[in-house]
Amino acid sequence: MDRVWRHSLVLMLVALLAFGLAGCGGGGEEEPAAEAPAAQEQAAAAPQMVGDPERGKQIYRQSCAACHGPDAKGIQGLGKSLYPADSEFIRGKTDDELVEFIKQGRSTDDPLNTTGVAMPPKGGNPALTDQDLYDVVAFIRTLE
Ligand code: HEC
Repeated sequence: MDRVWRHSLVLMLVALLAFGLAGCGGGGEEEPAAEAPAAQEQAAAAPQMVGDPERGKQIYRQSCAACHGPDAKGIQGLGKSLYPADSEFIRGKTDDELVEFIKQGRSTDDPLNTTGVAMPPKGGNPALTDQDLYDVVAFIRTLE
């Protein structure tokens, strides 16, 4: 009798485990669905691109570091720090807005220009794609 009882206990445990695993699998699939409404809202505002910070770091080194410094802390007379903590401008902008800004650059007669030095459109590298710029912005967001 005791053995039969133990046997059915083991069976129950196995069944519980199987259910638990199935539950996990189901939960994992539900997550993207839960995010869908937010994604849709963003899609309605503008086609949202997702930046890859690792790729962005490479692009930063090639196209931005000459003026903003290898550590993105800025170089006196060339470019400002891109650390969000140092820049209210960067903190206050969405990714889309920052990408737009980088495309335009900032001339010396722009009222926001504080250094008297111009930032050329795309940092002077017209070959940079939108994806490249979203990647750079994603990299800037990691600076802290
Ligand atoms: C030729 C030099 C140069 C290059 C290359 C350059 N920048 Fe700049 N950037 C500047 C200067 C100068 C400013 C600051 C102008 C001012 O407001 O006084 C600036 C400002 C900025 C700002 C605004 C910062 C703030 O707080 O107002 C951002 C963001 C920025 N650059 C991003 C980039 C990115 C990303 C790249 C690479 C794709 C890049 N820059 C390449 C010179 C450069």
